[in-house]
Amino acid sequence: MDSNPLSCDLDQRDGLTFSLDAKYYTDPEIFELEKEKIFFRNWQFIAHGSEIPNSGDYITRKIIDQEIIIVRGQDDEIRAFYNVCVHRAHTLVRGDGNCGRLMTCAYHAWSYNLDGTLRNAPNYKHVEGFDRAKVRLSNVRVEIFCGFIFVNLDREAKSLRDLTGDLDKQIAAFVPNHGDLRFLVEKRIEHDCGWKVSVENFNECYHCLVVHKALREKVLELDTYRTATEGIYIRHFCEGRAPDDSMYRFDPAQGQNMGAFFIWPNVAIVSYPGGIVSTRHFIPINGRQTIYSYRWYTDGRASDDDILDMAQKHYDTNGVEDAAVVHEVQKGLESRGYAQGPLMIDRGLTESSEHGVSHLQRLVLRALAS
Ligand code: FES
Ligand SMILES: [Fe+2]
Repeated sequence: MDSNPLSCDLDQRDGLTFSLDAKYYTDPEIFELEKEKIFFRNWQFIAHGSEIPNSGDYITRKIIDQEIIIVRGQDDEIRAFYNVCVHRAHTLVRGDGNCGRLMTCAYHAWSYNLDGTLRNAPNYKHVEGFDRAKVRLSNVRVEIFCGFIFVNLDREAKSLRDLTGDLDKQIAAFVPNHGDLRFLVEKRIEHDCGWKVSVENFNECYHCLVVHKALREKVLELDTYRTATEGIYIRHFCEGRAPDDSMYRFDPAQGQNMGAFFIWPNVAIVSYPGGIVSTRHFIPINGRQTIYSYRWYTDGRASDDDILDMAQKHYDTNGVEDAAVVHEVQKGLESRGYAQGPLMIDRGLTESSEHGVSHLQRLVLRALAS
């Protein structure tokens, strides 16, 4: 990090609000701080609860360099643990699957119940002082929010529900059956940029007129696009084009508008016209690489074929178009000729306003200063 201290608020000059200094996007030490103060302290999206329907179903996910197991217990409870054996630190399980009633380490075969308690450690009865009851996996907090699994590495963090007010009701207005979704497909796009470039891009539609021709002409009525910032979430709303005018196949009786709910720091739950649901997860790999993971779900209102068609078309248009611009932004942030630009926040907070970006950048500053 250079000798300039981190700011506590965005710079203001001549009535304008300026974007974060480029060092926030390029300095590896700032990414290390973000890891600790943002990703290890806030709620991280995993999947929908229906993706591990049976006892013993588990998935593993990485929160940057920390691997977590999420497993459904015999009591139907979803729990999460660090994916590390208590004995001598071998990774406990790999990938996704079903482990039956036990999670068994591949090194010395210690086995753990699905609630994280130790079931057996070979030879333990002959080891003086070894108390099997005292051994358990290191647990991670889990919260089910609108049917989706979130985890938080901070044991002191406030619950996601407490942090988001009536957000669950707002999501339910678009996705009434959010507890009953079925996963259909994931689309992943590599973003050659830091995670902030990706989430800032998601949270403004100033670029939509320029970058997203199909979105502009064949999906949304862009002049109705509105963004509202509210604590740790950002709500987006836009009227959809009528089915005859849209490149997607959907039933307008199931909803004709788009609602998107971004939850700090890196996920959004999105409902497209026709009541088609996807999550948008921006997964930081390191300070300059992010995976943009779209997960598409059905609640039965639309046919699987129509949703898969939308998932592919969305990938081919918006997905590819956004990946191109965020990469160019990251390259520009590395330029010695760039420092900070003015954010275009208009009086009416219209479709062209960047107030979602300033809100995010303030959340970053506040987190780094905490
Ligand atoms: S490290 Fe897991 S059983 Fe030894
Ligand atoms: Fe975009």
